[in-house]
Formats: sequence, C-alpha cells, structure tokens
Amino acid sequence: MKRLAILASGSGSNAEQIALHFETGDIARVALIITNNPTAGVIERAHRLAIPVKVCKKADFSDPAGVEKMLRDEQIDFVVLAGFLLLVPENLIRAYHGRIVNIHPALLPQFGGKGFYGSRVHQAVIESGSLISGITVHHVNEKFDEGSIIFQAACAIDKTDTPESLATKIHELEYKYFPVVVEKALGNS
Ligand code: GRF
Repeated sequence: MKRLAILASGSGSNAEQIALHFETGDIARVALIITNNPTAGVIERAHRLAIPVKVCKKADFSDPAGVEKMLRDEQIDFVVLAGFLLLVPENLIRAYHGRIVNIHPALLPQFGGKGFYGSRVHQAVIESGSLISGITVHHVNEKFDEGSIIFQAACAIDKTDTPESLATKIHELEYKYFPVVVEKALGNS
C-alpha cells in the first residue's frame, strides 16, 4: 500500500476526490495533507475525512528539517499537488524525484507558468478566443508548470462561458480524471 501526501492551498475539492478514490482497496491511502494557507478549505475537508493535516509556512517547504522531514517521517511514497500555489523547492524535488505530480487547469504548455493560477488561467484562456481548454497532469520540476506531461483532457469553451463557468467544467474534468491518473502514475513510480 502506497502512502500519498497532498499539498494544497485552497478549497481542496481535488484533494477530497483523491482521498475518496483511494479510501478503499489496497493501492494507496492519503496519509497526509499539507497546506501553506491557514484559512484553506482543505483543512476542514481533511478533518472531515480524518486525514492528518499540517499548516506550514513557506520557509518550511525548503527546510530539509521541515516538510521534507515530515514526508519522510510519515513514510510518504508519492506527492500530489492539488491547487498548491507555491513553487516546490529543489530539496523536495530531489527527495521525491519522479514522484511528484501536479494538476494544472488548462492545456499546457499554454496558459501556464508563474502567475497563471486560479481564475486568472480561465480569464486568460477566454480572452485568447480559444475554443477549448482542459486539464494537464504533469510531473513537477523546479519551474512552474514545466515538468513532463502525463495526461491531458479537453473541454469546449462556449461563447457564453465566463471564468466561473469554465472553472466548473474544468473541475468536472479534474474530478473524473485526476484520481485515476494519480493511480496510474503511482503504478509507474
Ligand atoms: C484546480 O482547478 C487545480 O487545477 C488548480 O487549482 C484548482 C484547485 O481547486 N491548480 P481545489 O482546491 O482542488 O478545489
């Protein structure tokens, strides 16, 4: 049984979907959720799901005695970023090389990189006149949204779509695919 950690900064609806996906069976369990945001919705979700949750300061993520130690102490095999807004520091990437994945709410390599997060991504996609958007699951390296792509799925953008309605479509894709893509990536790790 693999032990997963999820890093999240916001509502945590993807974190919850992943936790529920692995709740039964013997593939994996979400053993730890870590957030950098003391008011993140993911904290309440973690309590409800009875998953240990830690709130860490930005500096803790790059401190080998901080988050890295926490992950090792909890014998975490694989790390999933689900709406995590900080750049993952080098020490964590080294410690979990090939074992950290992220989800991005657009079709990379477009609409990614620093500053492209949350509704800003959807706003930019709509302003570009693109007829499609989608999700990208990718390995994490030391640059925002640049690791190798594992999986993408697309949805149509209608003329009437707003950043909010597009976000809803993207979330639907995320809930449908992210947990199964994580399961596959785990199997390959
Ligand atoms: C998701 O759309 C994810 O792709 C992006 O941030 C959003 C997080 O949503 N990186 P939630 O916190 O999982 O509800």
